[in-house]
Amino acid sequence: MAQIRIRNTNERIESEDQVLEFLTKQNVLYEHWDASKLPEHVNNKFSLTDEDKNTILSTYDEEIREIAGRRGYKVWDIVALSEATPNLPEILKKFEQVHTHTEDEVRAITAGRGIFIIKGDEQTGYFDVELTVGDVISVPEGQPHFFTLMDNKAIVAVRLFIEPAGWVADPFDDPAFVK
Ligand SMILES: [Fe+2]
Repeated sequence: MAQIRIRNTNERIESEDQVLEFLTKQNVLYEHWDASKLPEHVNNKFSLTDEDKNTILSTYDEEIREIAGRRGYKVWDIVALSEATPNLPEILKKFEQVHTHTEDEVRAITAGRGIFIIKGDEQTGYFDVELTVGDVISVPEGQPHFFTLMDNKAIVAVRLFIEPAGWVADPFDDPAFVK
């Protein structure tokens, strides 16, 4: 289950109902997929073969097609990051810049953990969404954000896109953002 930290106040939101209410108010989609569906041999594994990735995608085929039909995604894949990923520090450095996209950014976490840092409304400012297995999140189109790993430094997620142009990150230079 996701947890929220509001950066300006250090307030944490940890109850499921309140997390959903907060994210909904910030226009961030928050749903769940059943984490127990994953076959044992791909569970909690971060170096994935193409066959492993296909296993994860077919395990969640119904969920993927449901959300794709509802929200217009046309392509999907698996992203896996861990300390075994070549150039992980460089990849994270690139990720850790506030940016926007021309479409929403959807991730369904199937192993590990990660954080989206998202710019909320004026009153809220930036907040962290700490994600765990089973969490599905969508950062709205045009909403400044970035992603990074947590202490465990490992994550696997399903990504869904409407079109390839949506993958591009447009830098968002925000003097109000403090790391
Ligand atoms: Fe992004």
